[in-house]
Amino acid sequence: MTTLGERAPRSNQPDMTPAVETTLLAPGYRIPRIVRGGWQLAGDHGAVDRERAVAEIGAFVAAGLNTVDGADIYTGVEALYGDFNARRRAEGLAPLQVHTKCVPDFDDLARVDAAYIRRIVERSLQRLNVERLDVVQFHWWDYAVPGCIDAAQTLAALQREGKIAHLGGTNFDTPHTLAMLDAGVPLVSMQVQYSLLDRRPANRLVPAGLQRGVQLLCYGTLAGGFFSERWLGAAEPGAELSNRSLIKYKLVIDDFGGWSAFQALLRALKGIGDRHGVGIATIATRWVIDQPGVAAAIVGSRYADHLASTLAVFGLRLDAQDHALLAPVLAAHPGLQGDTYTAERDKAGRHGRIMKYNLNKA
Ligand SMILES: NC(=O)c1ccc[n+]([C@@H]2O[C@H](COP(=O)([O-])OP(=O)(O)OC[C@H]3O[C@@H](n4cnc5c(N)ncnc54)[C@H](OP(=O)(O)O)[C@@H]3O)[C@@H](O)[C@H]2O)c1
Repeated sequence: MTTLGERAPRSNQPDMTPAVETTLLAPGYRIPRIVRGGWQLAGDHGAVDRERAVAEIGAFVAAGLNTVDGADIYTGVEALYGDFNARRRAEGLAPLQVHTKCVPDFDDLARVDAAYIRRIVERSLQRLNVERLDVVQFHWWDYAVPGCIDAAQTLAALQREGKIAHLGGTNFDTPHTLAMLDAGVPLVSMQVQYSLLDRRPANRLVPAGLQRGVQLLCYGTLAGGFFSERWLGAAEPGAELSNRSLIKYKLVIDDFGGWSAFQALLRALKGIGDRHGVGIATIATRWVIDQPGVAAAIVGSRYADHLASTLAVFGLRLDAQDHALLAPVLAAHPGLQGDTYTAERDKAGRHGRIMKYNLNKA
């Protein structure tokens, strides 16, 4: 079995890896400003070598990236994290910090009651093999179906019972985030899409979150991998896109202004990366964690192949010249408008049509 022990010094050379930046997501709960995403381990992004995936989480933890995003609806991912933590415990090492989710099925919304929410949380505890969940991020597919606040309050009750340490949400807009807070649900975080392509959180959620103590955990940072040299100068992809993230973020690229606008953005990022000796993905991630109200970027991957360029984010500061390179492209392309996750809530719309709504039973 692969050992998950902390990294041993590889040589007598000084370690040039920049120190991982961390932040308090809640009092007493510290996370790195890059959280590793887990959707890419759920099978919709190509086959996953489970043993390799578990072992390579160890490389992230050893590098200081000890926090992962997961979900009740990411098939097999909670159990994979649970296996990792069981091995950590066996080695006497600190467990991984896991941010999971509570996403009741769309078709069940009208029937969701306290027992339903409790079942999801108990199942996460069991799969993760822990007595208390670090963070549970709540989602509700349809505001028109009553029950959202009641479900969030059940999670708050589970928190008071000690089964959940911290509560967050995912994909709520600003009014619904505020409504949960006003109802006494102590959200510390909201997980939303926030990237150079999709800057909707800056409109309303960030100012409200700064005021009410809700920090953002951001996905879409790399647009599912589009923010990389691989796509610079490449022809616009069609139906051949290889995974669900790329399909999702191609729509966001279309909203940004299409493929030629995206290429202009990639060229600007490449120019900035060349100034600093890093790649496009590193610049795109730095931009996200530099935004006000952002606690961390969530960066997805199956293995540790990109770990070095992820860690390079912490050695980088964007300067005035970098921002001057980005500014004209961003000004010309404001991207999706309105509040967070509003376009996506239209189930018949282009974003809504590609989603899977009933994964909890799986
Ligand atoms: N709440 C929600 O609705 C929601 C929605 C989407 C995602 N998420 C969360 O956010 C996480 C991120 O997912 P995402 O879909 O937004 O994808 P993303 O993080 O924007 O992109 C992930 C992809 O980028 C590639 N990548 C990672 N680091 C790279 C680097 N340094 N250079 C080049 N490519 C790199 C990975 O490639 P490899 O495949 O080669 O590793 C992976 O396929 C998910 O895992 C999930 O935890 C949440």
